[in-house]
Amino acid sequence: KIKACLFDLDGVIVDTAVYHFQAWRRLANELGFDFTEHQNEQLKGISRMESLELILNWGNVSLTEAEKVEWATRKNDWYLDLVKLMTPNEVLPGVAKFLTDLREAGIKIALGSASKNSKLILERINMLDYFDAIIDGNNITKGKPDPQVFLMGAEATNALPSECVVFEDAVAGVQAAKAGGMKAIGVGSADVLTEADFVIATFEEMTLERLNF
Ligand code: G6P
Ligand code: MG
Repeated sequence: KIKACLFDLDGVIVDTAVYHFQAWRRLANELGFDFTEHQNEQLKGISRMESLELILNWGNVSLTEAEKVEWATRKNDWYLDLVKLMTPNEVLPGVAKFLTDLREAGIKIALGSASKNSKLILERINMLDYFDAIIDGNNITKGKPDPQVFLMGAEATNALPSECVVFEDAVAGVQAAKAGGMKAIGVGSADVLTEADFVIATFEEMTLERLNF
């Protein structure tokens, strides 16, 4: 029986994935190269500094540690400029209803995100109150695909891994859930999220009944 649902944030609750992509692309462009939406899939779910490393690799750019920190800060500032414009209208379709259904059924709700901006985003979209626990980039020492973020979410909601369902839009996130012994429902495309137990395109397809499979 499922006791807790653990949600990734970016690309699951809200489509900040597009803002991350815009800001990273701007960074690449200013360094003299570009990357594709296909490459961008690899950046989903992984930390800011790991993302920067991958991107610099794609562009064959080498920077000093201090320069890396500067560029990562710049990217985050551009990203936050976009986040600040967000409104509750940007919560993805079906999410609010599904979270309300979970609450009414007594199923715990936790956030499991690599982002250090998660509280700010949840505030912007007015969703902070839905969450019984928030585990994010400020709490973890190991990023997805390591299961740490979700194991901490399970613990915070008093659920065993086998009693948790994780919702993820990232390949690394689905892998993290599976590595933690949890069920994983992909949000997005089944062609990309091949390791998920099943994939929904949006939460409009999701019901409480579908949690117990
Ligand atoms: C999420 C996103 C990643 C992002 C990471 C860190 O996992 O999917 O694209 O790099 O969070 O986000 P932050 O807001 O801390 O830069
Ligand atoms: Mg995500």
